[in-house]
Amino acid sequence: MALNIISLSALSLPFFAGQVLSQSQQIIIPPVPYLGDADTQWISGPSGFDAPKNRHINWTAYDWWYFDFVQELSGSGDQASIAITFYTTGTDGFDALQEAFPLYPSTNLITADVTWPNGTLESFLFVAGEATFTIDGDGASANYSGTNSWFEGAPDLSQYTVELNSPEKGITGSLVINSDAPAHYPCGPNEEGQNIQLVPGAGWFNAIPDGDAEANFEIHGHEFNFRGRGYHDHNYGGQSFSDSFLASYWGHGRLGDYIVVWVDALAVGGTNHLSAYVVKDGEILTAQCESIRVRPYGDNSTYPPTTTSGSPTGYDIQITIPEGKLELKAEYTYVTASHRVYHRYTGSLTGTFNGEALPDGVALWEQFTLQEE
Ligand SMILES: *[C@@H]1O[C@H](CO)[C@@H](O)[C@H](O)[C@H]1NC(C)=O
Ligand SMILES: *[C@@H]1O[C@H](CO)[C@@H](O)[C@H](O)[C@H]1NC(C)=O
Ligand SMILES: *[C@@H]1O[C@H](CO)[C@@H](O)[C@H](O)[C@H]1NC(C)=O
Ligand SMILES: *[C@@H]1O[C@H](CO)[C@@H](O)[C@H](O)[C@H]1NC(C)=O
Repeated sequence: MALNIISLSALSLPFFAGQVLSQSQQIIIPPVPYLGDADTQWISGPSGFDAPKNRHINWTAYDWWYFDFVQELSGSGDQASIAITFYTTGTDGFDALQEAFPLYPSTNLITADVTWPNGTLESFLFVAGEATFTIDGDGASANYSGTNSWFEGAPDLSQYTVELNSPEKGITGSLVINSDAPAHYPCGPNEEGQNIQLVPGAGWFNAIPDGDAEANFEIHGHEFNFRGRGYHDHNYGGQSFSDSFLASYWGHGRLGDYIVVWVDALAVGGTNHLSAYVVKDGEILTAQCESIRVRPYGDNSTYPPTTTSGSPTGYDIQITIPEGKLELKAEYTYVTASHRVYHRYTGSLTGTFNGEALPDGVALWEQFTLQEE
């Protein structure tokens, strides 16, 4: 691991809160951590929704752009999915990643976890040099040098495209997501002045809660071409991830006209932090940081979970909105990532609204369990 002191440089306009952007601007994140304060932003500005929220990526800071795709369930139970993350993180920023890649070669990494319809998993890691971000309106775009890979966001967040292009590693192609739901912060809609902090020291916000998506990749000579649901969010913090979270349940899904995004997290210190988002026919029914409860059920449903908790059969998700109560169950088809402190799942989402059955749907979710036994 090389260590230098190079700071992030804002090449054109300043990008922090309070500035109305009249043109796009570039931000370069070097491949080595900054030795100093990250200068982390916690309140939303008038623009630049998906921009980096740390001015610098120091040793403990992280900003990452996450994209996923999940195939709707067919009768056979097959379910393809993919999760792609573009990281900028200091060595001690996102510690779960450090566990997976102990040598920690760069601040700027891309990971892709592919699940074939039959459940076979493949993972890819791209190590980048500097990462160049362009912010235009609310959207962010990025090139990760040396990887031939990038993402591009529309200024109004209506579309994101992710392209991975590494024949050497055996993956080329793109994921295109067309949004069906408005962006939001943990406690409210995409507006200036929102609190972006989810738990003390860690922020989260969601550019595309759900959208039509097309995944077209060639992976080790096999076609991975599917249509399904897509999603994009962004996490960040100034201190190490494990100094903020003890556990976290997050997920998203769609049942008929209803789109749901859930977070039920435990912070270091034991406080509970929530976010509930429900959209019907493109209209936000709720975007709030209360009135939701997410708990594991079935096998391995110990709560709070620890690093030795196995995968639960599924999660009960209860959300109270002004119009009534959503009672949902997410039950996994596949465990699509399995690390000591982190699991990801895809499966079915079923349930009722005020006691009436909703159409069966599809979901993708994860659990972080950072509390040692
Ligand atoms: C990085 O910056 C954050 C402020 O955003 C600060 O809390 C943290 O202590 C800094 N980390 C290091 C290693 O300097
Ligand atoms: C699952 O599908 C992939 C991709 O088509 C294939 O390479 C793999 O051999 C299959 N695995 C099993 C167990 O059938
Ligand atoms: C990424 O690189 C391509 C090709 O050099 C360029 O056209 C595009 O504008 C770059 N995007 C960003 C966000 O820097
Ligand atoms: C519960 O955890 C055990 C041990 O990790 C595992 O073998 C089992 O498959 C898990 N149950 C489910 C439903 O995944």
